Amino acid sequence: MSSVPALATVVNQRLAAALEAARPEAAGADPLLRRSDRADFQANGMLALAKRLKANPRELATDVVAAVTSGGPVRDIEVSGPGFLNITVTDEAITANLAARAADDRLGVPYTAHPSTMIIEYSQPNVAKEMHVGHLRSTVIGDALVRLMEYRGEKVIRRNHIGDWGTQFGMLIQYLIEHPHELDHQGGTEAGEAAISRLNHLYRASRAVFDSDPEFKERARRRVVELQAGEKETLELWQKIVDESKLYFNAVYDRLDVLLTDDDVVGESAYNDDLATLAAELEESGVAVRSDGALCVFFDDVKGPDDRPVPLIVQKADGGFGYAATDLAAVRNRVRVLGADTMLYIVDARQSLHFKMVFETARRAGWLPDGVAHHLPFGSVLGKDGKPFKTRAGETVRLMDLLDEAVERAGTVVREKAPELADAEVAERAGQVGIGAVKYADLSTSRSRDYVFDLDRMVSLNGDTSVYLQYAYARIQSILRRGREQGVTRAVAHPELPLAPAERALGLHLDEFGQTLEEAARTYEPHRLAGYLYALASHYATFYENCPVLKAETPETVENRLLLCELTARTLHQGMALLGIRTPERL
Ligand code: ARG
Repeated sequence: MSSVPALATVVNQRLAAALEAARPEAAGADPLLRRSDRADFQANGMLALAKRLKANPRELATDVVAAVTSGGPVRDIEVSGPGFLNITVTDEAITANLAARAADDRLGVPYTAHPSTMIIEYSQPNVAKEMHVGHLRSTVIGDALVRLMEYRGEKVIRRNHIGDWGTQFGMLIQYLIEHPHELDHQGGTEAGEAAISRLNHLYRASRAVFDSDPEFKERARRRVVELQAGEKETLELWQKIVDESKLYFNAVYDRLDVLLTDDDVVGESAYNDDLATLAAELEESGVAVRSDGALCVFFDDVKGPDDRPVPLIVQKADGGFGYAATDLAAVRNRVRVLGADTMLYIVDARQSLHFKMVFETARRAGWLPDGVAHHLPFGSVLGKDGKPFKTRAGETVRLMDLLDEAVERAGTVVREKAPELADAEVAERAGQVGIGAVKYADLSTSRSRDYVFDLDRMVSLNGDTSVYLQYAYARIQSILRRGREQGVTRAVAHPELPLAPAERALGLHLDEFGQTLEEAARTYEPHRLAGYLYALASHYATFYENCPVLKAETPETVENRLLLCELTARTLHQGMALLGIRTPERL
């Protein structure tokens, strides 16, 4: 099917042509058309252009109006204020555009003109540890960006860069060797839950011995050397711990309803074999230098509190490689081997300096072309008190508990709204509503801002929540069902019918879906899509209050309004799907 240009695009092109006709020297200037409260659209571009041409802006605007050819979507165009253009389009153009969208299974949304290879790195939990709310944010934002980019036709490679390497494994493995039954499966509890509780136990028990028994500490240290040397038994036990963790991660991903699978996991350990040559290359080229035995990269603009330079440490003085080295290897691999045109790193804002240094080092080494790598930092999750999100006892909140609680609260809401539902149905919908609520609260806030984790607000039926959007969707489905029961099934466009103000507002908003996706993709900001969907549901509510659908005066109006309902539902469904949120047919 073919894409449908938005009316805004069509009108903007017409204005650009009129501009060129009125002032040939202005060819290529953007009329800067925006939606407006005063008319359908307002173009502000004449002001800046007049300045550039040293012309009177009102005069320029008046000449452009005279040059706009009649016919097409423009009904009225007039100069206002210092030289704005106010533009109103015809009802006919609105309905015709909606009909074209409805006829397309992509709602008229185009594919990106130049598909690229895009690596999206997200989630990145650490082996043998609980995932925390920071991993939740990364997972949810990453999942939405993956869905959005894939929908636009980008070639997306997902990367779950798990923390599966480091000296702590010496302690864990050594303890396992000395207590071989520590990770034995007991059965009973759910696989993911059981896995993390075994890992937590292993972690605590080994830590206790590590801290109290210097001989164990020494054995653990030697175990790290064995691990790095790839000794067979050591590696097997390492793998066992990683696999156990993956059981847990997958249980969380399943619960969260995200796309990540085992195939996407390429952890820090994957780059082991590259690290020695990478370090040698950096040292030979002079990008990195030895400082107190460590291999370091320095930056003029990165200084610590005492004004001493803070380096990126590629290799520690004892020869060990850390977090920065694996990240450098990953950058090199992603560009050289995977052919990345764009790399997105969805990681906590507190790691901004780390990524700045890693990217700059890779750039100096010639591994990273400009404009390819982007760290997309996100803010912290706060409790209602505005402080970092913790339990009442001051511990970090377990992600699974949090999700369970969200689903439980959603269950209460669903049960209240539909007391007649069977338990299994309540459970299914509660899952979709509860998880949707958590995701939406995250995705509707601008990525870089902190946000308050407030379940009461998240599952509320009023306000900017996923439940509100899910209800809007379900309500439309119920109208469409009732229509079918009454034998009114045809959602047909009647472009000749005049539109009520609420129909125009809804129609013009529906027409902006493609532009919204384009903008959200360009800025890597899913909250633009969330905001669009909330506005869509609000426009729909106003329409529904003012314009009877099945009881409209004429059969043509019924059909025309059904078209608006259907298109709103499909747009809501598609938009929510791109955020990774389900839209149940009934609620
Ligand atoms: N595992 C790290 C953490 O939990 C995040 C990894 C971020 N990605 C990276 N390429 N360094 O903090």
